[in-house]
Amino acid sequence: MKIKFLSTPIYYANDKPHVGHLYSTLLVDIWKKACALQNVKSFFLTGLDEHGQKVAQSAQSRGYSPKEYVDRLSEEFVNFFHHCDIKYDYWIRTTDEAHEKAVQHFWGQLEKNGYIYKGAYAGWYSISDESYLSEAEAKEVDTSNPKYVWQEEECYYFKLSAFEERLKKFYQDNPDRIYPVERYNETVGFLKQGLKDFVISRPKERLYWGIEVPSDPEHVIYVWIDALVNYLSAIGYPDEQYKNYWPGMHVLGKDILKFHAIYWPALLMAANIELPAKMYIHGWWLRDDAKISKSSGNAFSLDELFQKYKVDGLRYFLVRGVEMGSDGNFREDLVKSVVESELSNKFGNLFLRILGILDLSFMNVLPASEKYEEESIVKKMEEFYEMFTKLPEDPALICAYAKKFIDCVVALNSFFDEKQIWNMQDKNEKASVLYFLLDMFRKIAILIYPIMPDVSRKVLDCFEFNVSLANYDKPIAREFGGNKPVFFPKYNPNA
Ligand code: MSP
Repeated sequence: MKIKFLSTPIYYANDKPHVGHLYSTLLVDIWKKACALQNVKSFFLTGLDEHGQKVAQSAQSRGYSPKEYVDRLSEEFVNFFHHCDIKYDYWIRTTDEAHEKAVQHFWGQLEKNGYIYKGAYAGWYSISDESYLSEAEAKEVDTSNPKYVWQEEECYYFKLSAFEERLKKFYQDNPDRIYPVERYNETVGFLKQGLKDFVISRPKERLYWGIEVPSDPEHVIYVWIDALVNYLSAIGYPDEQYKNYWPGMHVLGKDILKFHAIYWPALLMAANIELPAKMYIHGWWLRDDAKISKSSGNAFSLDELFQKYKVDGLRYFLVRGVEMGSDGNFREDLVKSVVESELSNKFGNLFLRILGILDLSFMNVLPASEKYEEESIVKKMEEFYEMFTKLPEDPALICAYAKKFIDCVVALNSFFDEKQIWNMQDKNEKASVLYFLLDMFRKIAILIYPIMPDVSRKVLDCFEFNVSLANYDKPIAREFGGNKPVFFPKYNPNA
């Protein structure tokens, strides 16, 4: 059976990780955790894009060799993702020997199939985007900015134009390969403008930090080809075993749509490899209406926010309010309000109140009681469960799934207030309702694991359950340890 494969883009190893990198990776991590809980075989790939001018320049400006520099950054990214409770299956680095060989093999296939030719190029090159500007772009931007350089060089071209019709037909026949539809339309728009062959090498004397063209070591392979092939090299390409995973699915930001939706499929066609099964294109996190990025200087350290709102608070914030394809504003006051009002106040506080009653009324030992069920809540929980079961097939549901969680929690709060369980005199009724509430919390804790793994573990610890769907319906042991978990900072309306 095929293993479901979802990748993030690989991140430029030119600076520290920021919230944009976290977002792409988190989406795949949530998908992966949902697959793992449901025993769906899955493969989560992420890693670093370590070659190219941008990386070489960053290294130089900090006094490192490129290799020393990318080694440090790789460690930094790995630690960052570890801190964020992200567990990928494979960490690819484009300086890995196996990757370099795979890229050279891929190049050889394109050459053998007649899609590479030698020529020359003159034009404005954007160092930050690692690509030449089109004529139209060059007219629009201020080319006196040092981020653009005029370059004339001998180079190799890829015959992208040969794939225009095939790509048009492919997207016409497969409109569901790109999510959301706006990005599909944008892709169709690119195709309407026509496809021109593009440069896929740089002279080594200009850029030594890259993979050599196998048949002509005076040239290095264009960094985007090097980077895109990671999706194959990580799963064993050119060894046939890559077919156990391929065709895979990709998550990426809208800024790199063209590379993935046009260049990548054309390159794959040229190498006679199946096209990706699906691409999920997410939006940007913005600050003051601008995309957060190191190059625009508006990126910020997440350390303080992690301390204040916990890793799970940020994980939740990033997926709860913003649909996968839309942009979102990243502001601390928004994080604070979501974490405090939803997680601290509605979720954590209710669970602690329930444990409080259990302690006060029953000294943490719940007596046997009749079964009680509140139908409207059970129904909501079923919807939440159903959404969870759809995640392995459809990562685009992540936001809707986070919303289902809070929907259930809000319903539980209303139920708790209506029942006034703290005032109940009948001990049997009180125990029945408490059992029901505890049961719902145990279920929620299991289902929310993909988004908030730490919260999930803390709640389930109170039941002495581990995170497993096998514990979804098991009877709850009626003796509790009396520990009160600490989840999030307390809500303080005056702070
Ligand atoms: N190295 C290339 C990708 C090669 S994949 C074969 C690259 N790297 S990147 O580090 O610039 O960006 C990687 C991912 O982070 C992209 O999906 C990008 O959209 C995402 N983000 C970077 N900043 C972002 C925000 N401010 N908001 C959301 N995601 C953004 O491109």
